[in-house]
Amino acid sequence: MIGKLNHVAIVVPDLAAGSAIYRDTLGAKVSEPVAMPEHGVTTVFVELPNTKIELLHPMGEDSPIAKFLRRNPDGGMHHICYEVTDIIAARDLLVAAGARVLGDAEPKIGAHNKPVLFLHPKDFCGTLIELEEA
Ligand code: CO
Repeated sequence: MIGKLNHVAIVVPDLAAGSAIYRDTLGAKVSEPVAMPEHGVTTVFVELPNTKIELLHPMGEDSPIAKFLRRNPDGGMHHICYEVTDIIAARDLLVAAGARVLGDAEPKIGAHNKPVLFLHPKDFCGTLIELEEA
């Protein structure tokens, strides 16, 4: 069912410092910060030849990742995003298999303007999974 790895998201306590590590130390192509108020995050996109890394920083204390950063003050891996061709079909198969979809289980428009869903980490080896229709 799942296809390509679309991105790995990493929460960082300092977006400028995280950008500098990926741009200057690791030598990757790094975007300017992109504010996404509807998701409560500011994102920096790191382009790799075969996938993307997204550096996430909370926008305000109500951000869904503010709590993550309080528990992990150095930052850390937040989620992995896999591509699926039909997100509704994927969701229905996963729910039938007993997996939990976060929120109201309806796809939302994600950072790449495509429908996304999040799957409960306890059902997937302790990893928060994002599915993106691509
Ligand atoms: Co993501």
